[in-house]
This record gives sequence, structure tokens and C-alpha cells, in this order.
Amino acid sequence: MVQYTDELKEEIRSANDIVDVISQYVTLKRSGRNFFGLCPFHKEKSPSFSVSADRQYFHCFGCHKGGDVFTFVSEIERISFRESLEFLAERARISLPTVENSEFNKTQYLKDRMYKINAETAIFYHERLYKPLAKIAQDYVKQRKLDNNTLKAFKIGYSGEYNELYKMLKAKGFKDEEILATGLVNKTEKGEYIDRFRKRLMFPIMDVSGRVIAFGGRKLENNEKMAKYINSNENLVYSKKKHLFALNLAKQSDSKKIILVEGYMDAISLYQRGFNNVVASLGTALTEEQGRLLRKYSEQVILSYDSDGAGQEAIMRGLSILENQGCDARVLQMEGAKDPDEFVIKYGSGRFNLLVENAISLVEFKIKMIKSKYNLENANDKIRFLKEITKVISNVDNKIEREIYIDKVAESYNISKEAIYAEVNKESYNSKANEKTLVKPAVKQEKVIEISPAIIKRENMIIYLLINHFRESYEAIVTNITLDDFKLEANKFIFEKILESPAEESEKILQTIANIEDQEIQSHVSEILVTDYEISSIEKCIEDVVNIYNKERLTNRKFEIIKELENSSNLTKEEIAKLEQELSEIIIELAKRK
Ligand code: CTP
Ligand code: MN
Repeated sequence: MVQYTDELKEEIRSANDIVDVISQYVTLKRSGRNFFGLCPFHKEKSPSFSVSADRQYFHCFGCHKGGDVFTFVSEIERISFRESLEFLAERARISLPTVENSEFNKTQYLKDRMYKINAETAIFYHERLYKPLAKIAQDYVKQRKLDNNTLKAFKIGYSGEYNELYKMLKAKGFKDEEILATGLVNKTEKGEYIDRFRKRLMFPIMDVSGRVIAFGGRKLENNEKMAKYINSNENLVYSKKKHLFALNLAKQSDSKKIILVEGYMDAISLYQRGFNNVVASLGTALTEEQGRLLRKYSEQVILSYDSDGAGQEAIMRGLSILENQGCDARVLQMEGAKDPDEFVIKYGSGRFNLLVENAISLVEFKIKMIKSKYNLENANDKIRFLKEITKVISNVDNKIEREIYIDKVAESYNISKEAIYAEVNKESYNSKANEKTLVKPAVKQEKVIEISPAIIKRENMIIYLLINHFRESYEAIVTNITLDDFKLEANKFIFEKILESPAEESEKILQTIANIEDQEIQSHVSEILVTDYEISSIEKCIEDVVNIYNKERLTNRKFEIIKELENSSNLTKEEIAKLEQELSEIIIELAKRK
């Protein structure tokens, strides 16, 4: 057995970013420089699995598994360490110094040959497009208004008519079994070899790095009986749910957005008109794997599907997949054309760009879909509409965002804001009670109180400071913030532990926490640890957070006094004077703190 050197191991390691590798198995959400998700090694409902991009390490705070990219792969694939090295070498296309006759090497060799066949085939088809025999294809691309740059960028081609591809590949020395493995040629019962794609306009499908992995072929004849497109079948190098057409081009775009379309022609047509950030899902429903690719290469995904009914259904599914993965997903709304290709040819790229700019969010899209079911002139319909949309709006976590939607709905559908607020409040009490929140509110009242994201973040940051910067923060925090100030049970629990232990033990609070067998506390802490609070000065940060609590205390007291003064009939003159004195001091104090 050939020994792999340390250098080789390091080369393989650096070619396999741990976040990329783990993302193929786990949906990771970014939080600053770290990522977290649900641990693949044990069952859990809240994420305690974190991956550090900087350190190239993973760790699960729930089951305590952790290590580097090799550990991860050998654990998840249930293979040996050596095999994990081979696995990752293959993933990064690093060839290993061995000619062993193992299964691994045989498959590896076959894949290599298939990539070569695909590459040769793409060139063959593309060159054929320029030959006189390809007149039908040349006429067609002209009719579809594709220019030569586009034909080159996508390596668009024209297939053979019978077995031209097979003959070419044989002449290049490829073996029958290698050719058959790509699916580009079929063997008939009589033992004859015939090209799969005949008389079609050919679109090579490439992976992210630009390797040709499959083909799609469009019919050129106006024959109803022929399938409009045929595509390569799945094979060793091609799994259609894991790829997006044109991503190899879109990833080079400077744009932070990616426009997702359904068809080859939509992507190609938009590309030609200046949109170099377009990918196509090739008519199939968006998969989780594709969602992860999109998240990796963009900050915002604009779904631009066909405007027919099927397209709208696909949008809803696609949107949910993307949102679940933490993507900012928008829907482009198009009228006057059945698909983006037709639209951009008819109305031009400026108009299409406007559609991109005005793409709507999932919530707005859902509201629109609900609206289409009702006639808002009818009072009963209007009530039903209101009830349905409030369900959608109450699911929005962010309060400010929620308010924006309420404003929009009130304005667009002429419904009073108060009516919407009333419904939303009702709805959010109902649904919050059923929600499986990571951390329960500490105060159990009859109505479950809503804790704002700002408070959660602030509290978590205090715990973060105590864990990571104990010496600098302990004194200031315990003298200014009390146990009752904490709203989240988990934070209250941790803070209590810190308060009740002697200072030198509190400093090692992380160890204490690690020994607590409470999944919610564990994952809560890992979440805090993997969060980037973007602290530039610890001192300033402590000062700010303490200040917030003190200000809040003052503000609460201010309103208390105002209330007391409003009902001052049972107060003596002295009492009133005292309260007014205190009030003016508070107002001055608050003004100073602004
Ligand atoms: N598709 C397919 N097989 C079919 C029809 C469609 O694989 N019989 C896939 C193709 O990837 C196609 C996509 O679904 O690109 C979208 O279909 P459609 O909108 O019909 O195709 P367009 O790309 O718009 O092609 P054209 O404009 O040439 O009709
Ligand atoms: Mn089309």
C-alpha cells in the first residue's frame, strides 16, 4: 500500500473547505465567521453543531463529536481515515500516487474517462454547428437570436444524425464501456452503437468548475411527436439534483444576486443581454442541494419562473426551500410573456432589470396568492382574506418587517391597520404557544410574552462576554445587571450559575456548562459561541450593554412616576414634590445618556 505523505494530506485538506464539505450533508446557517446547523451524528431539534471556517474545525455541543474535515468525512461516510483522504482527494480532483487495482481506483479511472469523453463531445458538437451540414441548426439559432459570443460562451452545438459521435470517440481511443457509461451512445439489441442525441441543438451542462458533465438537446424539427428536450441520464458524473445550468458562469459575476430560471433558453437569452448572473434549474423542482449551491454563490436569489400555473406552484416550493436554508429569496413578477426569454426579447433588458429590482418577498408572494382567491369587494371574502394573510404575517419573526407588511397590506388592499394588528396579535399568541422555541421565556404568564430579537441578542452577548472575557466584564456586569433582568430561561440559568459560584470558578463557566446535560442549554451556548458579535472594543461593549439596562431602568421608573402623578389625588404635597424632583432628575439623566 502506498503511504500518503503529510504534504499530500495538507494539499487535500486545503483543497476541501470544511464548510463546503459539510454543507453537502448539513444545512448550515452562517452566523458571522461561523456556521451552524443540526448535528448529523445525533438526533436534535435545535442546532448545536457548529463549523468554524477560520479554524476549519467542526464541533457538536450536543454529542461532542468534533474534528477536522477528514474526521467528519470518515464519520459521516463510515469509512476509514485513509478512505476519507481518498474521498476528499477525488472531490478536489487531486490524483493520488497509486495504481492499485482497488475498486476505488477503477471507479476513479472510469470517471476520469467520462469527463474526457464529455469534454471531447462538447467540442465535437460545437464545431459541427459551424459546418454546412448544420444549416438547420444555424437557421434555428438565428431565429432564436443567439449571437456568436453566446454560442461560444455556452459551447452550444449540433449533434450527429446517426452515429457520428460514436465514430469520433472510437477514433480517439475511448472504449465501448466508457462511452456507454456516459449515456451519450446507446447499444441496440442487435449490438449496434447509435448516438443518443440526433439532429438536436446541444447544450452542454457543466459543473461549478466548468467541467462538462451532461447534455441537453433541443429538437429542431417542428414535430409534435418528438420530445422538445432530451437530456443525459443520471450517471457516475452527473446527478441532476446537484447541479444548476450556467452556475459556472454565474459564479464569476460581480452581482450578489442570482436569477434562477427554468429553462436553458431563458438562462442563455438573459446572459446574452447582459445578465451574467443567471442559472437554470432545468425544469425540475428546486432541490435542497441546489438551494445550498445558490446560497453559497449569492446573497439573494431571484426566482424567475415561467408565468404559467405550474411555474407558480414551483415558485412556492422553491421559495420555501430557499427560505429554510436562510437564503434571501425573491420572486420576479412577469406579465406579457410566458418566460424570461420571451420577455427580454420582447421588452428589452432595461424592462427585465426593473422586474429584477421589483422582485417581491415570500410573504408578499403568499399574500398575492391568497388575494387571487378572493373578491375583496365582498365583505365576507375580505374577512377571510384578512384572516389568511394574518397567519402569513404573524409568522414573520422580525417585528419591523412585520410592521412593513402590515403597512403595505393596509395600503394596497384598503384595510385598516388596526384591524390587521388586532388579527396579527391574536394569531401570534395562538401560534407562539405551539411553537418549539429554542429558549422558553423565563416568566411564565398566562399569555406567552414575546421576547424581541434585540433583547435576546443583548442577553446572549452578556453571556458571551462572561464566557470569553470574564476578567474584563464580571465586575461591571454583576454590579449593574440583576438576575431578574434576564428574560430567557437559558440565560437566566447560566447567569445564576455564575452568580452562585465563587469568582474563580465562574471564570471556568464553560466547563460547568459542558457538564450540564441539558440539550437546550448546550445548544444555546454553542449558538452564543458561534455567533459573531462584531465586538471591536470589549470595554466599550460592556459599557454599552450596561448602559442599556440602566437606561431601561430609568425609563421604566419615569413612566411609573408619571402614572403615580396622574393619580395624585391620594398623595400629599410633599410626596408629589418628591416625585417631581425624581422625575426631573431622571429626565436629565436620560438626556445625558442619549
Ligand atoms: N425540459 C426537459 N424536457 C422537456 C421539456 C422541458 O428537460 N420535454 C426542461 C429543459 O431543461 C427546459 C426546461 O425544462 O429548458 C424548461 O422547459 P421550457 O420552458 O419548455 O423550455 P425553454 O428552455 O423555455 O425552451 P424553449 O424556449 O426552446 O421552448
Ligand atoms: Mn422558452
